[in-house]
Amino acid sequence: MNTKIQKIDANKTVFTVQEEEALKEAGQIIRDGGLVAFPTETVYGLGGDGLNKESSRKIYAAKGRPSDNPLIIHIANMEALPYIVEEVTPEAVKIAEAFWPGPLTMILKKSANVPEETTGGLQTVAVRMPSNAVACKLIEYSGGYIAAPSANLSGRPSPTVAKYVIEDMDGRIDMIIDGGEVGIGLESTIIDLTVNPPQILRPGYITTEMLNKVLGQVDVDVTILSDTTGQAPKAPGMKYRHYAPQGELTIVAGEAKQVVEYINHRTDSLMAEGKKVGVIASEENKADYRAQIIKSAGNREDEAAIAHNLYRILREFDDEGTEVIFSESFAEGTLGQAIMNRLLKAAGHKLINLTIFDK
Ligand code: TXA
Ligand code: MG
Repeated sequence: MNTKIQKIDANKTVFTVQEEEALKEAGQIIRDGGLVAFPTETVYGLGGDGLNKESSRKIYAAKGRPSDNPLIIHIANMEALPYIVEEVTPEAVKIAEAFWPGPLTMILKKSANVPEETTGGLQTVAVRMPSNAVACKLIEYSGGYIAAPSANLSGRPSPTVAKYVIEDMDGRIDMIIDGGEVGIGLESTIIDLTVNPPQILRPGYITTEMLNKVLGQVDVDVTILSDTTGQAPKAPGMKYRHYAPQGELTIVAGEAKQVVEYINHRTDSLMAEGKKVGVIASEENKADYRAQIIKSAGNREDEAAIAHNLYRILREFDDEGTEVIFSESFAEGTLGQAIMNRLLKAAGHKLINLTIFDK
């Protein structure tokens, strides 16, 4: 398949005539059952018609994704919601008012209009209203309901720039819209509103504290930061190894000095074996490492920058053929939960905690 690549600046609200035409063409591709990758404020999405079961099948095939892993339906306005859910509950209205358009996905009971191919056989549906201007226009031109997982091959880090969408999807889908670098860089927060109290299934930019303010008590799926609970994650997609770089990634937690010493010690012996070693460092510590490739995720206080840079860094390590990667831990602050959830998954939960040896 020949994949058309179309540049559209996503950081504006008024599009040129050519851009409007390109968005209409992309919308028509989706109406006709084709697939278009597009930017959102979180990560790039791989979009098809969420009400067309053939489109959902194509999405799974293009990603190489197991078809029991449900898709998120993206809408552009509140009028679109009642058509795809059984009931727009009071909680749904509250959090839509507080966080939509934006990086928040809610799970509600699905209506009969949504095919089970889109929901992975579940009777619930995940819905999100993105804020990215290209995403909103595309949803309107495509008929209002775009099913879109992240636009990566299954298991790889979600793309935050079009370059990595092209790497994974060129030749597999009809069109890729290059809207530049996304803002947030981690996928949306997912909250399940079909249980009481509501439960966070995937942490993200909208934090537990923000949801508490709007909904009162919310639970958090215990599997988010641990793989030893003996329970299956409530979001089917969270059970798969995700976001993984090709190199072997280990997270090292502890006091900064200890962490640097430990990583340097391991680096020396790995490099002596001829291995290519990389480090995901904080800006504060980056000068202290001895590995061949050191990438700063940002200042420790600037959690948004760390979230924004993480997936790009994991992809760059792949580009550079890094065989072993160490990362500092970034568990602090309000985004710490979301960052560590992704980092732990990328590492297959390999975490060395130096503080427990520090008696
Ligand atoms: O930010 C995002 O949410 C991005 C952009 C493109 O919007 N999309 C995204 O989609 O991350 P995806 O498919 O990579 O992740 C969707 C997650 C999966 O873990 C899936 O299992 C979960 O949402 N999910 C979808 N529908 C669900 C449902 N009905 N019940 C429980 N989990 C659901
Ligand atoms: Mg994904």
